[in-house]
Formats: sequence, C-alpha cells, structure tokens
Amino acid sequence: DWTSESFVETTVAELKEQLGNDHVIMALSGGVDSTVAAVLLHHAIGERLHCFFVDHGLLRKNEYEQVLDSYKNMGLNIKGVNAKELFYSKLEGVKEPEAKRKIIGAAFIDVFDQASKDIQKELPEGAEAKWLGQGTIYPDIIESISVKGPSATIKSHHNVGGLPDYMKLKVIEPLKTLFKDEVRRVGKTLEVDPNILNRHPFPGPGLGIRILGDITEEKVRILQDADDIYIRNLKESGWYDKVWQAGTIFLPVQSVGVMGDERTYEHVVALRAVGSLDGMTADWIHLPYELLAKISNEIINHVKGINRVVYDISSKPPATIEWE
Ligand code: XMP
Repeated sequence: DWTSESFVETTVAELKEQLGNDHVIMALSGGVDSTVAAVLLHHAIGERLHCFFVDHGLLRKNEYEQVLDSYKNMGLNIKGVNAKELFYSKLEGVKEPEAKRKIIGAAFIDVFDQASKDIQKELPEGAEAKWLGQGTIYPDIIESISVKGPSATIKSHHNVGGLPDYMKLKVIEPLKTLFKDEVRRVGKTLEVDPNILNRHPFPGPGLGIRILGDITEEKVRILQDADDIYIRNLKESGWYDKVWQAGTIFLPVQSVGVMGDERTYEHVVALRAVGSLDGMTADWIHLPYELLAKISNEIINHVKGINRVVYDISSKPPATIEWE
C-alpha cells in the first residue's frame, strides 16, 4: 500500500539516479504542488535546484514576503523576482478577462525566460541547467488532455519567433502520479510549512481576475486590505479550514453611502467562499451571519475607499468560482 514515507524514499532515489549532477530550474507559486515538488527535488539534488518566486503585484497582501521567507526557512535555493511594474504597465487599461489572462501569462513567460537565463549565467564553469521542475499532479494531466490539449496556453503566445529558452529544457514532474490529498501527505512527511500545505487554491493570474475591469495599483491595494481582513477572520473563527476556497472581489461599480453627515460614493467588494472537491462544481458556504457582520464592519471601517460589502450566494454551475 501507498505511504507518503515510502513515496518520498523511492522518489528521492529515482530523482538522484535520473538527474545525476544536473541542475534544475523551477518557478514556485506559493501553492502546495510546486512547493512539495521543489522540496522533493531539493532532497535529491540540494543546491543544484534553482528556484525563483515571482511577484506579479497581484498576490495577496504580504504574501510575497511571507512565502519567500518560508521557502528560505525550508532551506530552498530561492530567489525572489519583483516584476510588479512590468505586469502593471502591460495590464494598464485592459478590461476584458481573457485579455488580462493572456497578458499575465505572456508576461510571466518573459519573466521566467529572463530568470532562467540569469540562473544559467551564474552556474559554475561548464555546468548547464537542462531541466525544468514542475509541480504537475495527476488531475492536471487528465484535465489538460481532455480540455485544452497539452501546453495549449503556453504555445499560443509563442507561435512566432521561436520558443523561449526555457522551453528547450526537459521537464521533470515528481508528483505527476499523485492526487492532491497525497501531495499534502507527502508535504507533511517532508515537514513543509503548514501555512503552505493548508492554503486555499489561488489562481495564477491572482487578484488580476478578482478586480473586475481594469487593474490599477490603487484597486490592488484596496482589494488586498479587504481580503486580508476577510481571510484573517476566517482563520480566527476556524472557518478557513472548512472552506475549499475563499476570496474577495473588487466590483467595477461605485455605490452611495453615508459617513457622519457626508454622502459617500465609493467602491463595493464581494466576499466569496465555496465548498468543493476539485473546483469543477462548488457550493457557496453558509457562513454565520455574525461572522459576516464582523467582517463587513471591519472592512468598511478600516479600508478607505470601500463603503459596501456583499456576499456571493451563487453555486457552480451555473456561476463559476471566480467572477472573471
Ligand atoms: P472557475 O472560476 O473556473 O475556477 O470556477 C475553478 C478553479 O480554477 C481556478 N482558476 C484559475 N487558476 N489560472 C489558474 O491557475 C486561471 O486563469 C484560473 N481561473 C480560475 C479558480 O481559482 C478555482 O480554484
């Protein structure tokens, strides 16, 4: 029978055998899969695993600093790449959800390409990174075959001018036979930071698809502050671990309110919390009214620019989990 201990032992041995003295490059997302894959690779080849973590300016509040710290604490050979300005400038004025996704995906590939060139340059004389580490898990493979065809998204941005450098790398995917709960068990065996292991799923385009309409730094700041209050309250009340995914959405409308005897005309955020097994279907979670009241008051009182909070009571289908 499968145990996480024997999986770790066998996989680390296989990776050592397969990789020999080679170097591996890997982009980490702060999520469970890429982190556990990186820790496994690190056990096998140590400092020859070269990781980086990109700040696209669309992460949760303080997430970049916190995640980078916990990677360093886990002993990974990791570099932070601050690419906020690049992403914000490319996204300026863009409203359409799929256009935003494409821009974020393409900018990410550019950043990745540059980061992997930088890593290659710093390798010892004669050494070359031949491998790209990835946190692919079994359901990702099934999904990409049935829905899009493998690598459809990556290729669509690079059909002219040849492939980016990193695509010449061979892919190594130590978790590709595992389901999510098995990845978590392996992570626990490897003593991965519980904050990362128990984290809700978070989309690659991040807050970029939770700000409806065009993205500005000011909207990112407002949404990060509101979302931080929401998530902290879910954790403090014990609801975070009972919810499959939660997040805050910045709506593209303003609404009228009163503050003292002044009329206000400010932004609205929606709170979303869903239960799900795999994200394919989802039910909205019946959070207690008292908790919702507390979160709403805190957001409106503390986040400048928001005067109204609503709760999303739609399930998937027909609604999706994200609003874009
Ligand atoms: P939807 O909104 O389609 O989301 O019900 C299902 C799950 O997928 C995540 N999601 C994404 N993840 N890039 C990602 O990496 C994306 O563009 C993207 N869109 C949605 C979503 O957060 C949920 O967990």
